[in-house]
Amino acid sequence: PMPRPDPQALLDWYDRHARALPWRVGPAARLRGERPDPYRVWLSEIMLQQTTVAAVRDYFHAFTTRWPTVQALAAAQDADVMATWAGLGYYARARNLLKCARVVTDVHDGTFPDDHATLLTLPGVGPYAAAAIAAIAFDDPQTVVDGNVERVMARLFDEHTPLPAAKPILTDHAARLTPRERPGCYAQGVMDLGATICTPKRPACGLCPWRKSCAAWAEGTAAELPKKAPK
Ligand code: ADE
Repeated sequence: PMPRPDPQALLDWYDRHARALPWRVGPAARLRGERPDPYRVWLSEIMLQQTTVAAVRDYFHAFTTRWPTVQALAAAQDADVMATWAGLGYYARARNLLKCARVVTDVHDGTFPDDHATLLTLPGVGPYAAAAIAAIAFDDPQTVVDGNVERVMARLFDEHTPLPAAKPILTDHAARLTPRERPGCYAQGVMDLGATICTPKRPACGLCPWRKSCAAWAEGTAAELPKKAPK
């Protein structure tokens, strides 16, 4: 049997190798106890739905420069927000973005809710975004499962059930690994591991902090997981 993947090993790796992203707090500020701004975490999570980090960067900068707070965004003209969003696609996201900014400003006094259930009531915030925001902005130990996380779990546990049938199994693995300590850094660490090491093709297993507890590494099956059901 494999040793259990140690969340602390991933956190140590994250402290050394986290991607520097504009909605994150860097390692030095983190040591000073700084928390990420929930407005920026929310904005990044909405933008990152169906869009890559590379494509989001410039848009995130444009939005946060022009509208640095949720109150500022709530006061924006609809047409200005739609024009600044132009090119990101999935325009329902931009309409919900404005609605959400106005609900947070008018109903929640400009303070983002810090719990999953209340986050879920916000326009455009579904179960995934609510979990990601609660974990990343508020260190709530929510299970955050995107495609990267599914791939990492499928490999750690050598799960050969094809997607989408494997989804609940992989979510269960992810939930059981989520630590009480630094769950926000942990959630982003699994995402970064999936994006930079545990990649879909040619995973860089030699650099992986979880290699010794990875069942797919032991079996030599990492590159073929996760399996996908034929369409
Ligand atoms: N994809 C979704 N949320 C993300 C985040 N916080 N960091 C990197 N990639 C992400």
